[in-house]
Amino acid sequence: MDRFEHRDGSLRAEEVPLSAVAEAHGTPTFVYSAATFRAHLRRLREAFAPLRPQLCYSVKSCSNLAILRLAVEEGAGLDLVSGGELHRAILAGADPSRCVLAGVGKTDREIAGALEAGVGVFNIESAEELANVARIADDLGRPARAALRINPEVEPGTHRHTATGRRATKFGVDLATAVEVFRGHDRRSRLRLCGLHLHIGSPIATTAPYVDAIDRVLELRDSLRRHGLGVEVLDLGGGFAADYVTGQAPPASTYAAAIVPRLRAAVEEGLELILEPGRSIVANSGVLLVRVTYTKESGGRRFVICDAGMNALLRPSHYDAFHFIWPCEVPPALVPSRREERPALPGLEEVDVVGPLCETGDYLAIARSLPPVERGDLLAVYAAGAYGMSMASRYNSSPLPAEVLVDGSSARLVRRRETYDDLVAHELAVPSQATPLLGALR
Ligand SMILES: Cc1ncc(COP(=O)(O)O)c(C=O)c1O
Repeated sequence: MDRFEHRDGSLRAEEVPLSAVAEAHGTPTFVYSAATFRAHLRRLREAFAPLRPQLCYSVKSCSNLAILRLAVEEGAGLDLVSGGELHRAILAGADPSRCVLAGVGKTDREIAGALEAGVGVFNIESAEELANVARIADDLGRPARAALRINPEVEPGTHRHTATGRRATKFGVDLATAVEVFRGHDRRSRLRLCGLHLHIGSPIATTAPYVDAIDRVLELRDSLRRHGLGVEVLDLGGGFAADYVTGQAPPASTYAAAIVPRLRAAVEEGLELILEPGRSIVANSGVLLVRVTYTKESGGRRFVICDAGMNALLRPSHYDAFHFIWPCEVPPALVPSRREERPALPGLEEVDVVGPLCETGDYLAIARSLPPVERGDLLAVYAAGAYGMSMASRYNSSPLPAEVLVDGSSARLVRRRETYDDLVAHELAVPSQATPLLGALR
């Protein structure tokens, strides 16, 4: 699952004790394991090898340049959803022709930038957007390939915020209108509409929604064929699950066992397959390291107040998501064999693990069984690599956390912690006479 393990009562990322990371870089800090990231990416690639897919790591899941470099070094392309992500991709050394660009609201500036950079496939979300990308491609004289995002109307069984392939979402076009959109596209345009794209939700811990969606998309491909319209590219999106609880996510081989047989013939006939995994690669590759600032009892509940909450990791309050949390330093007898809500260990206490912000929704865990913790203890919030730092905010003027990448016994700071000056760096009304008063804060 990952390379975060307690050894002799001390949590390590690969060979590096997390207490040493906290000592060197403070908290809150996201700590990533390069070995875990590579292992998940390689497992996906091996599982789907019979379909020779282009893996496009989904930048939105964790977009630090050092993480993107890891993906690029492994030969992956990138799945982008904005001009900002394209900027990151280029800085990370990605080959734009191995990148795909999605997003329901691509602006003219983003489209032109992606055409100039030579992005491999535009994943198109509406007929109006298709016409606009085609217009800009023709104006710029830039050829490009496009895939139409289909809304296959399957139930992914995920949180409503991340179920994207149901009927009537803002994403893609209905199956029923897809043929019409293809037929309406001007074939003389430099934008060649030659693919289908879908992303049905995330995280999806069963294979049935993928199988249903693929069956529908293959039927659509047959109807397009009957109209003389070819499909060269099929992009299945992302959404494979991660282990928030031990053993929760099917291995890559299970997804592949369901998907490969359905697509093998099409791939043998020349269909190019793209996958856009994010979470399944990077979620288990990261932990959020926080320190306990205070503990308290109130109204019969025990609270553990940490130096970060929803500002660093929004998922518990935004998606009701479960993240396993455990102290970094514990006697070996108190290291659970599985990460789950209620580990079967003696002497645990039920606590709410909360952040410092002025909002009741600012928590990391509610009613969680933990060994007794005290002010000053370090806690690890597991499986925080995906949609952690990339969704972090500065709410309550909280400087963004640091990020550290561990590789074997090296721990490299890959994003420094923000300072108070960083918080106001883009504001244009800082009175110069305030500067002397700030000395003590810096
Ligand atoms: C179009 C698209 N592709 C890929 C992904 C990545 O999903 P995941 O991180 O679950 O693999 C997302 C996530 O929102 C997405 O919207």
